[in-house]
Amino acid sequence: MRLTLIGPPGSGKGTQADRIASHLRVPPIHVGALLRRQASDTTPVGRTIQRLLGRGDLVPDRLVIRMVLERIDQPDCAAGFVLDGFPRRIGQAEALDRHLDTRGTALDAACHLEISDEEIRRRLAGRGRVDDDEHVIGHRLTVFRTQTRPLLAYYQDRGRLVVIDAVGPVDVVTQRILAGLTHLVGQTSALHPSVGRRPDRVSAPRQRSPEGG
Ligand code: AP5
Repeated sequence: MRLTLIGPPGSGKGTQADRIASHLRVPPIHVGALLRRQASDTTPVGRTIQRLLGRGDLVPDRLVIRMVLERIDQPDCAAGFVLDGFPRRIGQAEALDRHLDTRGTALDAACHLEISDEEIRRRLAGRGRVDDDEHVIGHRLTVFRTQTRPLLAYYQDRGRLVVIDAVGPVDVVTQRILAGLTHLVGQTSALHPSVGRRPDRVSAPRQRSPEGG
C-alpha cells in the first residue's frame, strides 16, 4: 500500500507513519528527517536547507522531489511505503502521481491528521527541536495553511482523502487511520501491503469537506 500522511506540525505524522508502516510491513519515509540529515552537510545546499528548516520554510521542490522519488524507487518500497511530510505542495503531489504512474502504480490514500493549533502548541512545547521555537511554530502553521492545505482538495477530488481526528491516545489514532484506510481501499489491500490498487478501482471515500472540522 502507498500512503501519505498530511497534517500540520505536531499532528503526529512521524509517530503514526512508524506505526502504520509497521502494521503494513512497508517502510516509513520521514522527509523532514531526511532533510535534517542533508542540512548537516557542510555544502552550500546543506547550508541552504539548514537555513530554511530553522525558519520553518519549505525546502524548494527541486531539492525535495528528487530526494523522495529516489527513495521510493528503492527495492524496499516495491510493496509500498508510508510518506511522512510529502507532498506539501500541489507541484509535489503532481510529481509523485506522475512518477508512480510511469511505474504502473498509484498512491492509494492521503490521510489528513486533523488537530487544533492549541493541541499542536501543547505537543511541541519543550520538545527542543530547533524549529520548535514559538515564533517558528507559528510560521510553520501558516505555511501549512497556505501551501499544504490545498492538497486536501487535490486528494479529495481524486477520491483518495481520509480525514482522521488526530487528537487522542496514540493507539486510538492509529486505529482510526487503519479504519479509515479499510473504509477507503477495502479490507484486503489495507491489511495486506502487496495488494495496492489503482484509485480508479477503489470504493468511494467518505464524503467530507477537506475544510470541515
Ligand atoms: P518535519 O520534520 O516533517 O516537521 P513537521 O511537519 O513540522 O512535523 P513534526 O515533525 O513537528 O510533527 P509530526 O506531525 O511529525 O508529529 P510527531 O509525530 O513528531 O519537517 C521539518 C521541516 O522540513 C519542514 O518545516 C520543512 O522546512 C521541511 N520539509 C519537510 N517536508 C518537506 C517537503 N515535502 N517540502 C519542502 N520542505 C519540507 O509528534 C509531535 C509530538 O507530539 C511528539 O512529541 C509526539 O510524541 C507527540 N504526539 C504524537 N502523537 C500524539 C498523540 N496522539 N497524543 C499526544 N502526543 C502525541
